[in-house]
Amino acid sequence: MKEEKAIHLVKPMLGKKRWEHTLNVRDMAVKLAKIHGEDPEKAALAAILHDCAKELPKEEMLQIFRENGTMAGNVEERPQPVWHGVCAAIIAQVRWGVEDEEVLSAIRCHTTGRPGMTRLDKIIFLADMTSKERDFPGVERLRKLAKKDLDQAMCSALESTLSFVKDKKQTADPMSAAALEDLLGNCPDKEEDQDE
Ligand SMILES: [Fe+2]
Ligand SMILES: [Fe+2]
Repeated sequence: MKEEKAIHLVKPMLGKKRWEHTLNVRDMAVKLAKIHGEDPEKAALAAILHDCAKELPKEEMLQIFRENGTMAGNVEERPQPVWHGVCAAIIAQVRWGVEDEEVLSAIRCHTTGRPGMTRLDKIIFLADMTSKERDFPGVERLRKLAKKDLDQAMCSALESTLSFVKDKKQTADPMSAAALEDLLGNCPDKEEDQDE
């Protein structure tokens, strides 16, 4: 699927603000792809598709999971904020015929990460967190880190996500802790970097 087709399909599914977010994620994903040697077209496509299910009612997502049990896996047992990524990957594949496994994976794990993340997975995760409109404390530092080193940026981003969820007394998805555990080996300078 080409980016223009994805835009045509996703834009009507999202409100104005979320569509702007989506375009900002696309811009950041393309930027990171170019820096880190990833295919910018793949990054743009995954970014445009990543939040397509975000505004679907819970019942509709559940219906989609029931109809696509193998792809949905145990998603219903995971925290609800995680559902829309899995649901978006199913919609992209089943309804819209997206076959690129790397694109589907990046959409699927964009909220949580996963162990064994590919470069494209990391780019979409980080583009989603550092898109232009994001303004949480530390976002500028994370933007710089994402341009410099995807693994270190992922470690930092997952740590923030996990502590944010903990502070809000929400349940963390075990996949995020597993993703962090997996990445820590690639972040030897992380502690030093944190102390900056
Ligand atoms: Fe999302
Ligand atoms: Fe998003």
